[in-house]
Amino acid sequence: MAEIVGGYATSHVPAIGVAMDQGKTAEPYWQPLFAGYEASRKWMAELKPDVAIVVFNDHANAFSLEIIPTFALGCAAEYRPADEGWGARPVPLVKGHPDLAWHIAQSVILDEFDLTIVNEMEVDHGLTVPLSLAFGQPEAWPCPVIPLAVNVVQYPPPTGNRCFQLGRAIRRAVDSFEPGLRVAIFGTGGMSHQLQAERAGLINADFDRRFLDLLVNEPEAAAAIPHVEYLREAGSEGIELVMWLVMRGAMNARVREVHRHYHVPASNTAVGHLVLEND
Ligand code: DHB
Ligand code: FE
Repeated sequence: MAEIVGGYATSHVPAIGVAMDQGKTAEPYWQPLFAGYEASRKWMAELKPDVAIVVFNDHANAFSLEIIPTFALGCAAEYRPADEGWGARPVPLVKGHPDLAWHIAQSVILDEFDLTIVNEMEVDHGLTVPLSLAFGQPEAWPCPVIPLAVNVVQYPPPTGNRCFQLGRAIRRAVDSFEPGLRVAIFGTGGMSHQLQAERAGLINADFDRRFLDLLVNEPEAAAAIPHVEYLREAGSEGIELVMWLVMRGAMNARVREVHRHYHVPASNTAVGHLVLEND
């Protein structure tokens, strides 16, 4: 069987990508944020996964209000970085892993998770910023990527529990793939932030820290958090955190927390970061 060798969670703020692309990571505003990613970049470089499943959300770049897939699995051979208004980020083309992606599609759909299959998609900061944080600025990304886009933009997004259960189904899929493949899984987005309306700028460090603790040690309790609690406590964009539960569901019931980082603010967002290994 293929093996899940690590779980990586991180926020995905666009300005983090801009800071890296423009060489500003040592500036006083950014230095403390990027310092918290040095150990995990080393961890990732040593881990050398063969493929990364990246659970992320599109922000109306690949999808729009015309078609709103709840879960969309990328089965393509490659994905171009999207132009989000200032030109595409100067990062490598994202190469896919069609064999494992189609296997996951077959396995989870027959396991009764009705994914949308995507054969063409541009990927926005939701996917490319986590790759930059995890792998730095290489000429080419060091491994192929399977994107799994989750709708957290247009109500109703999936529940945290549905995301957690999908993670478990993805684990069964990976476990039943041909042996030898070492797979990392990313959960991205969050933590607390709200970009709109009266509460724009909301940050809730108490909620975020509790979420990190629950996700590591009591994932079922994290999965039971209802939408209204994310909205109330973590702001309208805090709902992105349900994507971390897909990653957690694909890990063992018990995990080791290898690394944690929490920093406020990056742009309008509380940045959280976790690295997990199966116990
Ligand atoms: C910001 C955060 C996001 O999650 C996002 O998708 C866009 C912008 C921000 O804090 O600027
Ligand atoms: Fe976002």
